[in-house]
Amino acid sequence: MARTRTVYACTACGAQQPRWLGRCPDCGQWDSLVEEARVPSPAAVDLVGISPAGAEKPVALGEIEPAGAPRWATGISELDRVLGGGLVPGSVVLLGGEPGVGKSTLALQAAAAIQATRRTVLYVSGEESAEQLRLRADRLREVPPGIRVLTETRVESILEVWRELAPDFVLIDSIQTMRTQAVESAAGSVAQVRESAALLAAMAKRQGAAVALIGHVTKEGSLAGPRVLEHLVDVVLAFEGDRAHAFRLLRAQKNRFGSTQEVGVFSMAAQGLEVVDNPSELFLAERSSGAPGSCIVPLLEGTRPMLVEIQALVAPATYGVPRRTCIGIEDGRVALLLAVLDRRTPVDLLSRDVFVNVAGGVRVGEPAADLPLCLAIASSRDDIALPPDVAACGEVGLGGEVRRVSRLDLRVREAARLGFRRILVPDAQDDSLTTRPECELIPVSSVARAVAWLHP
Ligand code: TYD
Ligand code: MG
Repeated sequence: MARTRTVYACTACGAQQPRWLGRCPDCGQWDSLVEEARVPSPAAVDLVGISPAGAEKPVALGEIEPAGAPRWATGISELDRVLGGGLVPGSVVLLGGEPGVGKSTLALQAAAAIQATRRTVLYVSGEESAEQLRLRADRLREVPPGIRVLTETRVESILEVWRELAPDFVLIDSIQTMRTQAVESAAGSVAQVRESAALLAAMAKRQGAAVALIGHVTKEGSLAGPRVLEHLVDVVLAFEGDRAHAFRLLRAQKNRFGSTQEVGVFSMAAQGLEVVDNPSELFLAERSSGAPGSCIVPLLEGTRPMLVEIQALVAPATYGVPRRTCIGIEDGRVALLLAVLDRRTPVDLLSRDVFVNVAGGVRVGEPAADLPLCLAIASSRDDIALPPDVAACGEVGLGGEVRRVSRLDLRVREAARLGFRRILVPDAQDDSLTTRPECELIPVSSVARAVAWLHP
């Protein structure tokens, strides 16, 4: 009997199943399995010309020269910071992000910067025509004339050009548009993405070139076949940001050559992405201090503190059920804090609409923003503005208690640097810091205490 020629691959995690299922048993995603042709043996290695019966011999670990990986600094400081100093020859970087966030722009700027150091750059565009790429380059301040552009989606043809040109840096925009003959399924399918990436990665290792694969993330925030690609590449970078705002964050989710604690901050301008050395200053620039319903929080992205303004507006509910609208912060978190405020403090939110916004298009995921959010809501409800030199941070528990946050010292230092003189902090934590004459720490044990502090 003939063996089945198809498998069902999960578009979220890449796991394969012999039959269709409503839910992927590996990652739990619903309705994510698609039918695909079964991929024969790992074709990647043969195509690039690496013999599977490899001539490599085992080496004693102690005898390996500890030569630190050489790096090609791109010259874009925020990108180098996230990469851990620059691109490593022979490595593969996956740059993921939602459509329109600026991946191609970042890639082109990186290509230009690398080309400026007299390295050959090959930009493979599977999405845009060469003319469109030229148009984008024209918007950037410096048009890199020497970048080789190839509009191609067939991996085999790309590899041919690659062999001939022997570039130092290859950009694939995007990996989802690439297809290889080794797999029968359509471009963009899990098998195609995986095999194409495997081929390109093998070629990168062989040629000692650095490769950047650009990948779109799906609505749920995962790259198509992310786990499949994640183990294949050396570095996974996520480019995040709200398209309506200029602010962009570049995060390392995996980095074999550096820390994943670093984040890069950019701002999308008319002439491409600009690095932001001082994110706090960017976020505080438009702040109108003295208005009720605003509180500053020193957030931490990796090891990088940044001050962000949390805004709240409490208004009488006009129709029946009060509305709760949140931008930049999770609805569930806000609902929880509203319940805590309602039960543990005198702040009356019954039949009030509550709107919460994080200024500048930042997404807050840290519990350290709980206390400042409560303060902003209380401040708006009672129409009392926080003093302009006050910031706050602390996690709030269901009992209304204020809990510790990580790296309070970094947060306090950043707030002090930007001129904040008083900071509400969890009271269990204030003694862990040496006193700073320039910044007074106000320990609070509960939200009720913090709200009482607000009322003179
Ligand atoms: P793009 O890099 O094409 O995004 P992606 O490759 O992630 O889909 O660009 C995204 C947006 O950035 C686009 O809508 C226009 C804007 N943009 C600027 O604001 N300034 C610029 O200089 C450039 C090149 C683009
Ligand atoms: Mg693009």
